[in-house]
Amino acid sequence: MTRLNNSPIGFFDSGVGGVTVFAQVKKLLPNENYIYFGDTKNMPYGEKTPEQLVEFAVNIFDFLKSKNVKAVVMACNTTSAVVYDKIKDKYPFEIYPIIQPVAKKISKLPEKRIGIFATQATVNSHCYKHELQNNNPDIEVFEVPCPSWVKIVENGEENTTSARTAVKEKMDEMLKFKPEKIVLGCTHYPYLLGVLSEFAPQDMFINPSVEIAGIIKDDLWTKNLLNNQDREGTEEFYVSANPEKFQKSASIFYEIKSTPALKNFI
Ligand code: DGL
Repeated sequence: MTRLNNSPIGFFDSGVGGVTVFAQVKKLLPNENYIYFGDTKNMPYGEKTPEQLVEFAVNIFDFLKSKNVKAVVMACNTTSAVVYDKIKDKYPFEIYPIIQPVAKKISKLPEKRIGIFATQATVNSHCYKHELQNNNPDIEVFEVPCPSWVKIVENGEENTTSARTAVKEKMDEMLKFKPEKIVLGCTHYPYLLGVLSEFAPQDMFINPSVEIAGIIKDDLWTKNLLNNQDREGTEEFYVSANPEKFQKSASIFYEIKSTPALKNFI
């Protein structure tokens, strides 16, 4: 099938996290057509093996390919860290991982002590650390895994006492490193910004969703792949389980109208 300017842009994440990226891209590119897939049946990805993560990603990429996408945004840090290198040349469309281009941008900042909050699998890969230090060897990186945060967000429990306790525990650990900037290295974490900013000024946190949206827009423009229609584009959201919960939890960032659950996903 030919990929055209009006072919959709695909997004994928383990759940509602990628909606933080989708909402930013949609703000910049309202006329594009979009397809989002949240793998809510298999989340949390941060606790999965590299083999499992590749299997999930291939399955979802094949689905997005069948929808004739012109590009796919890996709106998931864990997959960008563990899977991107393995599949980046296997599909006939643009693939945008989140960590690699964002780390490049961060490495140009004046701040040199960078903290990373991420899933266990992302921390195990040291993808942020490698990408930041390959671009700038003077950067010091401190990575803190936050395994409990993803479920708090998927369950819409950001404003509970247990969320505050879970965030405080990790912030205490992080602040000992005296970071100048802290990267929210999992797309679910921006949902916790309200709680996080009780412990450090909001401008200390870097939300990669904001950075990546501009990078995607510029790249599609350079490759002459933008949709030039002069009306708002379409959007389709799919999940592999629990569509109502997905819609409700995502609503902090985006009002989703309908979310069919696709049955035949592993
Ligand atoms: N939101 C994903 C990320 O950015 C994965 C979270 C998870 O399912 O553990 O890493």
